[in-house]
Amino acid sequence: MVKKFFIETFGCQMNVLDSEVASARLRRLGYEATPDPDEADVLLLNTCAVRERASDKVFTRIRSIRKLRKQGSLLGVMGCVAQGESDRVLKEAGGVDLVIGTQALERLPELLAEREASARAVADVRTPNLPAFAEITPAERIRPHVAFVTIMEGCDKFCTFCIVPFTRGRERSRSPQRILSELISLREAGYQEVQLLGQNVNSYGRGRRVEGGASHSFAELLELLARESGLPRIKYTTSHPRDFNVEILEVMERHANLCNWIHLPVQSGSDRMLAAMNRGYSSDEYRRKVDLIRASERDYALTGDVIVGFPGETERDFQASLDLVNHAQFDGLYIFNYSSRPGTVAAGWHDGVPPEVKSERFERLRHLHNDIQRQRNARFVGRTLKVLVEGRSTKLQEDFTGHSTCHRVVNFSARQDLSEGRIVDVLVTEAFGHSLYGRLAGTVTG
Ligand code: SAM
Ligand code: SF4
Ligand code: F3S
Repeated sequence: MVKKFFIETFGCQMNVLDSEVASARLRRLGYEATPDPDEADVLLLNTCAVRERASDKVFTRIRSIRKLRKQGSLLGVMGCVAQGESDRVLKEAGGVDLVIGTQALERLPELLAEREASARAVADVRTPNLPAFAEITPAERIRPHVAFVTIMEGCDKFCTFCIVPFTRGRERSRSPQRILSELISLREAGYQEVQLLGQNVNSYGRGRRVEGGASHSFAELLELLARESGLPRIKYTTSHPRDFNVEILEVMERHANLCNWIHLPVQSGSDRMLAAMNRGYSSDEYRRKVDLIRASERDYALTGDVIVGFPGETERDFQASLDLVNHAQFDGLYIFNYSSRPGTVAAGWHDGVPPEVKSERFERLRHLHNDIQRQRNARFVGRTLKVLVEGRSTKLQEDFTGHSTCHRVVNFSARQDLSEGRIVDVLVTEAFGHSLYGRLAGTVTG
């Protein structure tokens, strides 16, 4: 009988990519994927520790999945909770057979074999500092049209609220040639879009840990990939405002295949809070970068992240965040209630903003942003956007769905069948809060 594996993924795109790598490794061992945890011989939870709730969810899930698993199966925990809280995973949760840190993914086959050969749980949570860029072939990827490609790992910024430098280690960059050859093989396999991943893509190529010792800046890397990969669409995330610069924008202006989307998390509009967060820029500096983006001839979608209720945040600080969001007119905004994370600098500070105040600020910011987003989306009505067809719409089966180059979800009707993975013109007829609606412009042949 063929052995089966089940993977559940929490957290960011890096975890999505790591789950693809883990799936590829298990398939090479002869396993098949199953969506049913009770059928699986190997169950993996790929975890996120960025907020307390994300981390708690993992422990709840370990307990519930333990009840579902079949006898003799192995349960593994990978990702950022595995890296940061391996002892807690092994002791508190119980029943876990494998703990696979963020650097140990390549050792998954060995760790499985080790666990099968012994009665005791095995853990590999080495310090995540080495360049370890796992590779998978295009055929081993789960999504057929959009591929994630890591360009750098880790983070050296140490924002005082953030656990990521502890779970993903120091910054290290992959060689430009390897990134380019991966993009070319994805294009040859029919991929239309690649999303370049890093916690801090703008600091690509900096520091000592550059694979092969290469020395491209992020702007130079973008130039190389845009010119030589032949891919119709390249997106990237996440940019850090401190390192986002005019060179990056200039490269984007030169290449139509560098998409119209910039994710530039601001975290707060208050200089006092930005300093306490160790973000390395002021509210004015951030505004100037936004103004530069908005002054471009290209119509960029700008998205961001804001934390509300950071320790010491007063109503005045929060007002500054509202003002900044008003200024930036984000096309999309992720809002988070601050949550204390073990090992971070801010964890030692009094988390003095009461939960009800955090929730109230969250709601006020959400309302403001929803209004802005609706207005921003309305500008697309009557315009034709290039949309990558990704499947049928979940709302209406006869409709299609996909993303624009500006990373908007676009649902649309078409009087013909369309194959997934092609880029089509869609005339936008309606705008909603979180998506656009339209119809196929013209007829698609071939
Ligand atoms: N590297 C990115 C940057 O600097 O903007 C962010 C990566 S982090 C995984 C994604 C987002 O989670 C952050 O932008 C921040 O808004 C949020 N976040 C991180 N730590 C948090 C915490 N302790 N509480 C609430 N939100 C947090
Ligand atoms: Fe976390 Fe700050 Fe690094 Fe982003 S830049 S991953 S928020 S420490
Ligand atoms: Fe979460 Fe780790 Fe990503 S903490 S957001 S899965 S880098």
